[in-house]
Amino acid sequence: MRVIIEESAEEVGRRAARILARQVREKPDSVLGLATGHTPLGVYRELIRMHTEEGLDFSQITTFNLDEYVGLEPTHPQSYRFFMQRHLFEHLNAHPSRIHVPDGRALDFASFCRRYEERIRMAGGIDIQLLGIGRDGHMAFNEPGSSLGSRTRLKTLASETIRDNARYFGTEDRVPRLAVTMGVGTILEARQCLLLANGPHKAEAIQRTIEGPVTSQVTASALQLHRDVIIILDEEAASRLERVAYYRDVERAQSLLESGGLRALGIGPGTGNG
Ligand code: GLP
Repeated sequence: MRVIIEESAEEVGRRAARILARQVREKPDSVLGLATGHTPLGVYRELIRMHTEEGLDFSQITTFNLDEYVGLEPTHPQSYRFFMQRHLFEHLNAHPSRIHVPDGRALDFASFCRRYEERIRMAGGIDIQLLGIGRDGHMAFNEPGSSLGSRTRLKTLASETIRDNARYFGTEDRVPRLAVTMGVGTILEARQCLLLANGPHKAEAIQRTIEGPVTSQVTASALQLHRDVIIILDEEAASRLERVAYYRDVERAQSLLESGGLRALGIGPGTGNG
């Protein structure tokens, strides 16, 4: 796992956007796994800027979103579909037929979830999966106790998540109780995972994700089993990590590797440092 600590939430967004932009430049028909919530907003702002000012081309990408509330129409202002349209898709040139957000109004969820998984496979699998994290350590809507091998399915929201998300709905009783979400196993199949977190309220979940045991009680901790994970944090989200000095050392070595500064020691690029 590569842990990158940036000075501010804005820097976290810009750093993640640079990684995604590089992926799209190197492979224009990339398959991107996308996330909702407050955390990825800075990433999306920066991608839109790159598209409008620098001509970054998204015309060939395919996207799959992580999750959606059950029962909300795509036009509902709190639906994740609406969020994605408003904060990303309507500003880019991605082709609508290659944009996928789980359908919270599916009539048969079991078959919808099977087809969603199938579509990811048909698209060639996800190249980079963007992730946020809940205060209880969940990724997507994989609440504590979710099987680490789980696939796209319906999930009952935990009371902590309902409380956290009530700020978007006005009151707790308006928050849907169920969501359709990619599983932990689905997420782990992405070729690279990019987890972002900002703010002191994420510090404990981040400490448990990175330095705690792999456990279904903190589903993001399953990322420890993945071979290519980058975690980008602001100082506050990193504030409870015990091995910060080491993560910073790794980053210094990594930038030397990338800039060729270690060539004098006979160490070349592509050695990997995760
Ligand atoms: C929801 C989403 C998650 C997201 C989390 C944190 O539970 N399903 O994908 O990571 O909220 O959201 P925020 O970034 O707003 O803190």
